[in-house]
Amino acid sequence: MSARVDVDGTTAALPTGGPGALGAPWSSGVRRRPDGEVEVAGVGVGDLAAEHGTPAYLLDETDFRARARAYRGAFEAAFTQIGTGVDVYYAGKALLTVAVARWATQEGLRVDTASGGELAVALRAGVPGAAVGLHGNNKSDGEILAALDAGVGRIIVDSLVEIERVGDLAASRGVVAPVMVRVTTGVHAGGHEYISTAHEDQKFGLSVTPGPDGGTSPALAALEAVVARPELELLGIHSHIGSQILDPSGFEAAARVVLQLRADLAERTGVLVDEVDLGGGYGIAYLPADEALEPAPVAWDVAAAVAAVCSELGTPLPRFSIEPGRAVVGPAGMTLYTVGTVKPVTVSPAAGASSDAEPFTRLYVSVDGGMSDNIRPALYGADYHAEVVGRLSDAAPVLARVVGKHCESGDILVHEVLLPGDVRAGDLLAVAATGAYGRSMASNYNALTRPPVVAVAEGDSRVLVRRETVEDLLALDQG
Ligand code: LLP
Repeated sequence: MSARVDVDGTTAALPTGGPGALGAPWSSGVRRRPDGEVEVAGVGVGDLAAEHGTPAYLLDETDFRARARAYRGAFEAAFTQIGTGVDVYYAGKALLTVAVARWATQEGLRVDTASGGELAVALRAGVPGAAVGLHGNNKSDGEILAALDAGVGRIIVDSLVEIERVGDLAASRGVVAPVMVRVTTGVHAGGHEYISTAHEDQKFGLSVTPGPDGGTSPALAALEAVVARPELELLGIHSHIGSQILDPSGFEAAARVVLQLRADLAERTGVLVDEVDLGGGYGIAYLPADEALEPAPVAWDVAAAVAAVCSELGTPLPRFSIEPGRAVVGPAGMTLYTVGTVKPVTVSPAAGASSDAEPFTRLYVSVDGGMSDNIRPALYGADYHAEVVGRLSDAAPVLARVVGKHCESGDILVHEVLLPGDVRAGDLLAVAATGAYGRSMASNYNALTRPPVVAVAEGDSRVLVRRETVEDLLALDQG
């Protein structure tokens, strides 16, 4: 099985940037110039900081597009090979701006939205309604109506009550709503492991496992409820097993469960649904030592597995869809900060440490952003990589922690990284791989204004989302 597939001249491997590129976890357009300054897609970070200020989210457009193409190319090649097709939806929750939605569409992806707000951004970008999906475990009537009015390609329903509500609202509009049913397969993944339990203790989807009194599973009952409503068209079954997945066997396990459910539904109702969505969750590199999931081998493994399951079950292959978010935009992004206070802190050995453990020094490097522009380290303990990018230093590296400017000791951006010992106020510092779930989860904690999103491509930069101002914040405050 090849790890690299070419489809219509499209390379299905992730971009590396080639010789001179800093490499993962940086985007493929990141290099260090001979004078030591780092550039992104041909623009020096000094010029980017001068033009756009810091902190700023930088997005390497060429890298984003290449990742979108790699996912589409890899999955199209593998699923065509087994005799079916696949649609790739970009999961907008990772980062959605009008330009980003356009890039995804131009690269042949559709757009998956998780709220009325994300739907509005996709529509503003000119994404055809038919190429948009709407998710959500608690959609409002307004969101459902907006989706119906936009003619979205699919509404992914998440509960029995929602099936009735979407049916009623479709009836009120005189339309038939295309729906998928989100199910929970018992397969949970994320990080290097996946676990399988019958009953998932979480809010999403409908379980394929019957309740304590046996009988029909909630998933099957929901699918039958959709079949029973003439205002609903049952497109298929949806499963999303988790995020930042590095072991693809979870996708195969979930696909098996979904395909079995599809066969069970066909047996009970005669309806064989056309489509199965396997969700997103493809893992990326956050640290230099991390290995990202390459789309081609995953696509081939999953395709081979689903082909085998369908032949075992004696059912024709459905069409597939996937919803990568992080894997498309995560590595394309980085956050550029300016260093302020630098403070060595002596750290005592933890209570219970061995008696010969020595106190050590950790250099606290404060930057001009923090947990409001990247909540992931504080929320999930996520690890990131940072470098001083404005210059090259020959000072010996020291153990550092990159922190923000919030009134909170948990305001950490990078827990542990080696930075040059002479790192000082005014240095430009960048954190890699912040493209996904950085801006999209940003807040105004401590009334900090959210940084701009700046696209960089072919030696040029442009603002996709401008920096918030204090005036923006005050404009919301009614006094
Ligand atoms: N499809 C569905 C139905 C999802 O729920 C998600 C993510 C995705 C696709 C995209 O997953 P991705 O390919 O980006 O892993 N805030 C967390 C991640 C939450 C993901 C929620 N659902 C984080 O920062 O790690």
